[in-house]
Amino acid sequence: MKRITYVSRASKPISQATLDEIATISIQNNGRVNVTGILLSGGDFFFQILEGEEEAVDCALDRISKDSRHCEIQILKLENPTLNRQFPDWSMQTVRLDDMNDALVQAARVMLANLAESRGILARYTQPTIRNFLSQGINPLKAPCQLEDKVVLFGDIAAFDLLSTFYPTEEVAEHASCFLEILSTAVVRNGGEVNKYMGSKVLAYFPINHVDQAIRSCVEVLHAIKTLRANAAQCRLRNFLYCGFGLTLGPVIEGNFGSSFKLDYTILGNTVNMAARLESMTRLKGRALLLEESVKNACREAWRWEDVGPLQLKGQATSSPYFSLEDEITHDMRSVDEILEQVVSTTEEHRRNCPC
Ligand SMILES: Cc1cc2nc3c(=O)[nH]c(=O)nc-3n(C[C@H](O)[C@H](O)[C@H](O)COP(=O)(O)O)c2cc1C
Repeated sequence: MKRITYVSRASKPISQATLDEIATISIQNNGRVNVTGILLSGGDFFFQILEGEEEAVDCALDRISKDSRHCEIQILKLENPTLNRQFPDWSMQTVRLDDMNDALVQAARVMLANLAESRGILARYTQPTIRNFLSQGINPLKAPCQLEDKVVLFGDIAAFDLLSTFYPTEEVAEHASCFLEILSTAVVRNGGEVNKYMGSKVLAYFPINHVDQAIRSCVEVLHAIKTLRANAAQCRLRNFLYCGFGLTLGPVIEGNFGSSFKLDYTILGNTVNMAARLESMTRLKGRALLLEESVKNACREAWRWEDVGPLQLKGQATSSPYFSLEDEITHDMRSVDEILEQVVSTTEEHRRNCPC
């Protein structure tokens, strides 16, 4: 027996007719596979408990998760196995709390609304691995540290610190978020995981057999920011949006690291450090993407490689071969000095031409 408790947000105000519709189909479907439970609605949230045989509950939740009438589904509790049903008589008791005047019910409605809201806020600050653990009923605090092979991607906006001194704070923050959105979307679309943001820097990783996908993510981002630059209004930060990527492959320690004040579920090790160091070399080498030989050798797709020569990165005893793509898009890079020159000249030109 499995029991799942979740809250979700209604995509639009929940009418009695909508709830009746859900109740009718739920009673029909759940009755057939002996899933029982309760569905509460109030304000803009749903709260539901589903219990029954594991396969039947998973199947119902899978269908419910795809329903566009709600979103932001947060699993509050997953009990598997559990011995007894809490709602053995209801294939789905459906209750609209808004219509009930009882003071206790209203207090419960307010508490559930607060729970749904605060869970939604916390979820946005929580990395996907932790959300996945919770939705599978795994306590992330108990996840053991393990040594895993990963493809590590480190990305950053070129000269971001410098640019941030020239522009209003809000514009700088929006600019960083724009880049983080583009990069994170590309990483997730290609099967990777965004682990951490550090200002404008991003640490992401992919399964070891996703080397081509990791490269593709970088290429997609480079094309997207090129389009943004081409369409940027004169003198806006987007004109100077260049970024660099370092890609490495190898063992990382994955697990919980931190203090009693804050925990991170992250990856550590030389493979991660080297990705960050490679990324910082992109400005010097004038290439938006630099990768280790091991990454190149693990690719299955026929990329056109550019040998950028041996480099000795900080922490390396000897120099090693590094590569980029023989592609216009990876050559589309600026040094910090070039970006500074471009910012100053554009700002002066704008000042001369702009009446404001
Ligand atoms: C908050 C919420 C809870 C739902 N609960 C159930 C449920 O317990 N059982 C069920 O069969 N459908 C439930 N539904 C409806 C399903 O999402 C889906 O519309 C329905 O099962 C019909 O799916 P079908 O057209 O694929 O057969 C719920 C929908 C929402 C928005």
